[in-house]
Parts: sequence; structure tokens; C-alpha cells
Amino acid sequence: MASSRIMALAMLIISSFFFLSTYTQASSDSFLQCLSASIPNQILFTRSSPSFASVLASSVRNPRFLTAATVKPLCIVTATNASHVQATVVCGRTHGVRLRVRSGGHDYEGLSYRSARADATPFAVVDLAGFRSVRVTRGTPATAWVDSGATLGELYYAIGKVSDRLAFPAGLCPTVGVGGHLSGGGFGMLLRRHGLAADHVVDALLVNAEGRLLNSTTMGRDVFWAIRGGAGGGSFGIVLSWRVNLVAVPPKVTVFNIPKSVQQGAIDIVTKWQEVAPALPDELLVRVVAQGQVANFQSLYLGTCDALLPVMSSRFPELGVDRTHCKEMNWLQSVANIFLGDGATVEDLLKRTASGDAVFNKATSDYVRQAIPRDIWAQIFTSWLARPTAGLMILDPYGGKIASVSESETPFPHRKGVLYNVQYMNFWGSAGEEAARTGWVRDLYTFMAPHVSKNPREAYVNYKDLSLGENIVGGGNVTSFEAGRVWGEKYYKGNFRRLAMAKAQIDPNDYFRNEQSIPPVGNQFILTNVTRVDHTA
Ligand SMILES: Cc1cc2nc3c(=O)[nH]c(=O)nc-3n(C[C@H](O)[C@H](O)[C@H](O)COP(=O)(O)OP(=O)(O)OC[C@H]3O[C@@H](n4cnc5c(N)ncnc54)[C@H](O)[C@@H]3O)c2cc1C
Ligand SMILES: *[C@@H]1O[C@H](CO)[C@@H](O)[C@H](O)[C@H]1NC(C)=O
Ligand SMILES: *[C@@H]1O[C@H](CO)[C@@H](O)[C@H](O)[C@H]1NC(C)=O
Ligand SMILES: *[C@@H]1O[C@H](CO)[C@@H](O)[C@H](O)[C@H]1NC(C)=O
Ligand SMILES: *[C@@H]1O[C@H](CO)[C@@H](O)[C@H](O)[C@H]1NC(C)=O
Repeated sequence: MASSRIMALAMLIISSFFFLSTYTQASSDSFLQCLSASIPNQILFTRSSPSFASVLASSVRNPRFLTAATVKPLCIVTATNASHVQATVVCGRTHGVRLRVRSGGHDYEGLSYRSARADATPFAVVDLAGFRSVRVTRGTPATAWVDSGATLGELYYAIGKVSDRLAFPAGLCPTVGVGGHLSGGGFGMLLRRHGLAADHVVDALLVNAEGRLLNSTTMGRDVFWAIRGGAGGGSFGIVLSWRVNLVAVPPKVTVFNIPKSVQQGAIDIVTKWQEVAPALPDELLVRVVAQGQVANFQSLYLGTCDALLPVMSSRFPELGVDRTHCKEMNWLQSVANIFLGDGATVEDLLKRTASGDAVFNKATSDYVRQAIPRDIWAQIFTSWLARPTAGLMILDPYGGKIASVSESETPFPHRKGVLYNVQYMNFWGSAGEEAARTGWVRDLYTFMAPHVSKNPREAYVNYKDLSLGENIVGGGNVTSFEAGRVWGEKYYKGNFRRLAMAKAQIDPNDYFRNEQSIPPVGNQFILTNVTRVDHTA
């Protein structure tokens, strides 16, 4: 382990020299000249533009990645149509400047707008926040074309305004961008009844590394498979728009939220929840947010309170759900209520910023396939969650639809046999707390190792974590597949190799690359004559 780390570090240093030596100031100047000639001036923000800092900050969700030391882009292009994106890719390719793409800016590592490497070659950001229309079409099934820069809240609102019988199964947080979310899978309160957001994508428009605009047919089957959950790092190109199938919901759904403290039996109830929640009827999702000495059971039932109560009293009497807990409303209202609280209106789903934007945070994830013993939950509550530096744990139950899809149907492999996803998250208010707060996440992750999935220890790509591993550039000026397996198989299991083959089809020269992008595998030895360095040893 240690020697492979040293090897990886050595390779990183060698490959960085390789890049720096070939990079010149001239290429960034000529890149900017190319852009000025190809796109409207008002959508180009260079470092010297007065609004560069505010445009950069506009969708940053984590102040850790907006400091003086942050490695920032050379410029930002706030594209509003496909031709802007195509022209930016062509200029980037021609002048050797790489791109990062930002839709909602929620990336846990900020990789849509910053580089994690101090010695990174200059890069530009394509910001799609202004590229965000949603067009809903009734029919069987009803569908929507949604642009990547739309937020989940904007998508949900547009659907809910067409019909209170239609919905889309995706994440809870309304400010998350469609572009990044669908690229990594995407799950929320409908996951047990309807699966992942990416499971519902039926067409997409993608700008490839040559600047060509492709659809689901012209991009090829393997690439279309890959972008539906396997492009958590913008590896295959820039997805501009997605066509998704919508799902049917009843006109009335029921929300309930029940806190149980440790004194009220939280340890026993969470222990039991592990096996109950993944086996409940698909219409019912009961998740847990554990913080301090309290486990909050947050729920959505696709039906009325009358229908819910007998299910809860027979399947999970320990929770003590009664009529006073039920809040009946339509699905769109439930989205606002669950994430934003009781006073929230559906119009609040349209806000693109949130009060929590200035909070520093760090997260990572696990999958649990065998219920964790009660004594471990006792330690989690009485030790880990009780510390002054503690964050929280979110447990999202699987089973139902998400588990009925085969592991290779999409790149997202965490399906049959998963009881639940765990997210460990910590928050803090000032830079000085970072070490203690991130240390809590890291140490709890280490403590949990014996109790979670193994070989590989699975993780959810939308909860991106660079401490799971980072790419290195290998021989042939492309990202190393072997090195990428360290993080890639955690996110994708056996699908990682197929993703790397799809990458080789659409971007063999690895133009779209970052710290955790899919490496190309298959034909890199044919395409270049650079000697391959072996770092599998
Ligand atoms: C507060 C909060 C709540 C969340 N809640 C949930 C949840 O309930 N369920 C869940 O599943 N996840 C959730 N997430 C995780 C979220 O799904 C991911 O962070 C997602 O990648 C964010 O997408 P984005 O467009 O906002 O991010 P961005 O930072 O814009 O992008 C994320 C990644 O995708 C790439 N990318 C972005 N747009 C494109 C594009 N158009 N084409 C190609 N690549 C692109 C970026 O380069 C980057 O690597 C949450 C995150 C936060 C911060
Ligand atoms: C996109 O932008 C270009 C350049 O600004 C413009 O010429 C073109 O008409 C636009 N296309 C659409 C569909 O708006
Ligand atoms: C994709 O583009 C091709 C070629 O332009 C076209 O024939 C096809 O109808 C388009 N749509 C889909 C869904 O393939
Ligand atoms: C590496 O590949 C990129 C394209 O992916 C290219 O722009 C760059 O010039 C290459 N660098 C070298 C040193 O060949
Ligand atoms: C690789 O090298 C061989 C021999 O030096 C040469 O004939 C061939 O054209 C090169 N291929 C590429 C893709 O550069």
C-alpha cells in the first residue's frame, strides 16, 4: 500500500514536469484570443474581468474551495447555447487548454471549477448555470428535456406545474444541478419506488472533445450507457441536455418526520431500521439523519395517511407513527417540505442559492450490505456522534426499484443486496476548524471499515471524495487506468473497465480529464508512440 502510494506520488511529480515543460503562456493567450473571436464578449470572464470573482463564486457551495490558495480557472465561459460550448471546446483543443464543466457547482471536491493540484496547467470553466430550460411533454410516458444548468428544484417545479400526478426521482436538495447529478446517478425520496435519476434518461445531447454535438444514437451505445451515472467527473464530454421519462405519483403523498433520542431508544430503533427499511413496500421510504444524540426518521409515503398507518404499525411499531405525525400534500409540496421545512413554499424550490452556502463541509460515503450490530451503533451514538467535533450520518435505504436493476445495466453498481447508503458529513464555520472536522470524517470512516461493504469498499460517486484516490497521468499522455482502479472500482465496481473503454471510444486522447475522471483504456497504445510507464508494481 505504502509503496504504491510513493510510486503514485513519484509518477505525479514526473507527469507534472512533463506538462509544465510543454505549457507556455502563449497557449493561454492564444486560447483567450480564440475565445474572443468565437463567442460573445459578455459571456467571457477572464481573471482581469471585474466580475470574475463573483461569477466564479456564484455557485460555489463550499468555501474550502474559494480561498487565496485555490487553483482557479483562467477564465469562465457562461454559455447560453450549444454553439458557445462547442466553440470553447474547439479553442481549448486547438490551444492546449483543458476545460472543467460546472452545472450546479455542488461537487463535493469543487472539481467543476477548481483544480486540487497546485501545479495544474491552466484550465477554463464552462459554466452552464444560464443554460437551463425545462420542457415538459405530457404523454405515455410523460417526458421532459432538461438542460444541464437547471437545478433539481427548477425541474421539479416545472413538472409539478404541468401536473400534480407527475414527478421525477432525483435528489432532495433543490439547488443541486441536473448536469452533475444525472452524471453520477442521483437518488432521493423516490428511489425505492422509481430508482435513480439516471435510470430515467432516454436521450442526451453531448459536446465531445472535437466540439461536435451528439445525441444518444450518434454518441454510440457505450458512451450513452457511460454518461448515465458513469461521468461523475465530466469524462466523456459536456452534456448539454437530457431527455428523461417522468414517473406517476398519486395526487396526495404523506410526509412524516420523527426524532428519537438515545434516551428514547434510538440505538435499538436504528439497529432494527437497517433490516426493516429496505424491505418496506416500495411506496415507502424511511431514511435516518443521525446527529448528536438524535436519530431523525424522515419519510415519504406515496399514498394517504390512512393507508400508511397500518403499514407502519405492522412493520415498524417501534417508531410509534400515529395520525398526528402525518402531513398530507402533493408531491411538489413534499419536496419543499422535506428539504426546506414546514414553512417552505413550492416557489422556494426555484432559489438557486441557499443559506448554507457559506458553510465549510466534507463528506464521504459507504454502502452497507449486512446489518451493523447493535453494540457498534451504541459506540457510534455514545462516542462518535457525541464528540464536540462531530458531524452527522445520513442513512438512505435501498431495496425496491433501485435494487431490481442489474449491476451492469448502468454504471451505478450499488443495487441488489445493498441495505443502505451511508453518508458521513461534517460542517464548520471557519478555516481553523478544518483539521478537526475532516479528521472526524476520516477517523469514523476508518472505524466503520469492518462493518461496511468490502472488496471493493463501495462509495457513491456523487459524494465525491479525493481521499479515495486520485488519477495520475501515465504513459502516452493519458490518465492511467491501473492507478484509477483504486478509486474507480469503489464507485463503479466491475463497470469501471467498461467506462474506460467507452472513454477510449469518445476521447482517446483524454482531453476531458481531472483528478477523478475516467481513464481511457483499450487503444491508447495504438494512438500514441510514447513509451508506457508501468505503475502497477
Ligand atoms: C447540499 C447538497 C445536497 C445533495 N443532495 C443529494 C441527494 O439528495 N442525492 C444525491 O444523489 N446527491 C446529492 N448531492 C450530490 C450531488 O448529486 C452531486 O454533488 C452532483 O454532482 C452535483 O451536481 P452539480 O451540477 O450541482 O455539480 P457540479 O459541481 O456543477 O458538477 C459535479 C461534477 O459533474 C461534472 N459536470 C457538471 N455538469 C456537467 C455536464 N453538463 N456534463 C458533464 N459533466 C458535468 C463536473 O465537472 C463535476 O465533476 C448533494 C450535494 C450537495 C452539495
Ligand atoms: C447561439 O449563439 C450564437 C452566437 O452568440 C448565435 O449566433 C446563435 O444564433 C445562437 N443560437 C441559438 C439557438 O440561440
Ligand atoms: C440523433 O441524430 C441523428 C442524426 O442526426 C438522427 O437521425 C436521430 O433521429 C437523432 N435522435 C436520436 C434519438 O437518435
Ligand atoms: C496531452 O494531450 C492533450 C490533449 O488531450 C494535448 O493538448 C497536449 O498537448 C498533450 N501533451 C503532450 C505533452 O503531448
Ligand atoms: C509510431 O512510430 C512508428 C515508427 O517510428 C511510425 O511509423 C508511426 O507512424 C508512429 N505512429 C504514430 C501514431 O505516431
